Formats: sequence, C-alpha cells, structure tokens
Amino acid sequence: MNLIVCKNYDEMSKKAAEVIAECISAAGEQLVSFPGGDTPLGMVNVFTEMVNKGKVDISRTRFVQLDEWVGLGEQEYGSCVKFLNDNLLNKLQYSFFDTHLINGLAADIQNECTRLNEYIEHFGPLALSVLGIGLNGHLGFNEDGVDFENNAHIIPLSETTKKVMGKYFDKEHVLEYGITQGLKQIMAAKTVVLLANGAHKAAILKKTFKGPVTNTVPSSILQQHNNCFVIVDSEAAKELR
Ligand code: GLP
Repeated sequence: MNLIVCKNYDEMSKKAAEVIAECISAAGEQLVSFPGGDTPLGMVNVFTEMVNKGKVDISRTRFVQLDEWVGLGEQEYGSCVKFLNDNLLNKLQYSFFDTHLINGLAADIQNECTRLNEYIEHFGPLALSVLGIGLNGHLGFNEDGVDFENNAHIIPLSETTKKVMGKYFDKEHVLEYGITQGLKQIMAAKTVVLLANGAHKAAILKKTFKGPVTNTVPSSILQQHNNCFVIVDSEAAKELR
C-alpha cells in the first residue's frame, strides 16, 4: 500500500488528481473508473481543470462508472451518474474516448449488470479504479458479506448504507439495492486509488488495512492489491500511523 497523508481535503484532492493524471498519461488505450459520493468531488474538480488546460490527455481513455443506486436515474440528485455528469463529464472540454454509464432506472436492471460486465470484459481490465469507502468498508456497493469473486452485480444495501444515504438525496427515496462493479474487477485493476477524508473514516481505514482480510470488511481485500494508493487527509489517517 502506498499511503499518502495530506494535511486537508484540498491537498488530498489535488494529490489524487495528480496521481490519477499520471496514471492516465503513462498508459495508452485504457479503461478507468471513478466513483460517486462526496469524497471525490474535489479531486474531480482538479482533474477536470487539468484536462481542460491540456495537462492530461484523455482521448484514448475509456471511462466506466463504478456503481449506482438502483432506482435513481440521471436526473435525480444523489445518483452517481448525476454526480459524474454534473461535475466531470459535462464540464470536460475534451472527451473521453468512450463513456459507459449505469442506468439505475433500467426496467431490466439485471441487463445493466450484463452490459457492465461485457464492457469491462471487452475493454478491460481496468488500468485504474478510483474508489471511495463506506463506513462499513464498502467499495462501490460491495457491501459487507459480499463474495470477493463477484463481477458486476445487484446487491441489497446494508443497514449502514441505508442510514447514511439520506445525505445524498431526499428521504422520499426508499432504496433497497445497489448495482456495482464487483471486487474481482476492482482487484484486477492495474492501479487502485482509494480516497478518504474526515475523522469518521478513520476507524474503517484501520479495519481495512490493519485488520484481517475478510468479506465482513470488503475493503480489506485491498491489502492484497499490489499497486494501491491510499490518499487520505490527516483526520482519516489518524489510526493508520
Ligand atoms: C457510497 C458509494 C461509494 C462511495 C461510498 C462513500 O454510497 N456507493 O461508491 O465511495 O459510499 O461515499 P462518500 O464519499 O459520500 O463518503
């Protein structure tokens, strides 16, 4: 694990954007994946600016979404796709070579998994998987108890996730499932960049990197990744030193 502790959120975001840009610049044709959630916003802003200023070339990079809430579409606040569209994809002055997004409102949601799996199989493995982390150690929506060998799948949301989901969107949405790339696809990425900030993430980071590898803490599988950058602010890093 390459642990990079930054003094605050802004520094973490900038550092992460630089590491991601370096990764993208080092490879030719490639597939990369970004998450939604609150954590990556700063990184996405810096990254977008770097692309728009011509500091990083994404013209040979394919982009694939990590995860989505089943039941939320691109118009809904809180959906991962809206986050990515509003903050990244619609702000880029140069486009990714191709973009594969997840429709959480698809009538045939199982088919969204199939499409996601086929896309990753065809254009993958991922060169880069950028991740946030849930309070229970979920990566994407790989909730506690998940099978490490899964590819993209639909999964019931954990109680922890249901408790925190109110921060993303109105309580009128009662969501029960997520759709996510599987840990097998994430672990096959050449480079993983995990971002976390804030004191509330300190305990789960400790379990992730100092505890046993177990699917009750899905993120602990990252201990077995041989090129994983963990870029965090000092608050989140408190229990890692
Ligand atoms: C969300 C998403 C993840 C995200 C994680 C952390 O529910 N499914 O992709 O990385 O939980 O979210 P946040 O960055 O808002 O803390």
